[in-house]
Amino acid sequence: MNLTLKIWRQKDASSKGAMVEYKVTDISEHMSFLEMMDVLNEQLINTGEAPVAFDHDCREGICGMCSMYINGQAHGPDRGVTTCQLHMRSFKDGDVITIEPFRAAAFPVIKDLVVDRTSFDRIQHAGGYISVNTSGNTQDANAIPISKHAADEAMDAAVCIGCGACVATCKNSSAMLFVGAKVSQYALLPQGQVEAPDRVKNMVAQMDLEGFGNCTNTGACEIECPKGISLDTIARMNRELMKANI
Ligand code: SF4
Ligand code: FES
Repeated sequence: MNLTLKIWRQKDASSKGAMVEYKVTDISEHMSFLEMMDVLNEQLINTGEAPVAFDHDCREGICGMCSMYINGQAHGPDRGVTTCQLHMRSFKDGDVITIEPFRAAAFPVIKDLVVDRTSFDRIQHAGGYISVNTSGNTQDANAIPISKHAADEAMDAAVCIGCGACVATCKNSSAMLFVGAKVSQYALLPQGQVEAPDRVKNMVAQMDLEGFGNCTNTGACEIECPKGISLDTIARMNRELMKANI
């Protein structure tokens, strides 16, 4: 298929960006979206133009790097997939595709489609961990009984890959689905109880410090999340915060 791409080009963080139009031809419907971007970049390199900078790592939906806003949707039109899992069969011959970086004050653009998401790392560092004794007296992993329900719910929260689609799609640029997932992952397990009050207080404080907005229960984050993280995690984070402040 032949496509017209309208892509946000921005030299660096301090430069003014603009949409630039490119044509790509002979794109197979079996290619992934990132493979299509590779074809464009080959073309740009061959004509002496700078390739489009975009983030990617695993290309199998687990690293959370491939942040792109495609036709006004985080990770494009399909549900439950990251950009690297999106296939060109989701588009038609002759389509015009608009590709932009995730836009949020807490995710400043570094270059073209690459944004700085280290704000997520700083939130994680503020409390997203548990204390584990590694002094040689480490407890056997199966020694603490955990109910199936709690284990399942913790695992459902732990699948968050920190991609930032929830922030990008939220009208308030709220990071609460991400933080809710990270808090829930530990709050549901006995190992997470030791630091529980400090964890939620510190992670929420860091989230606010980074400049993310507040949740107004719109629910767009849950719809666009490639890992199906539930809004319930936000409710749990709020409950945990209330508990920690009593
Ligand atoms: S909650 Fe979903 S959309 Fe948000 S960072 Fe995690 S995986 Fe991405
Ligand atoms: S490149 Fe890792 S999730 Fe897309």
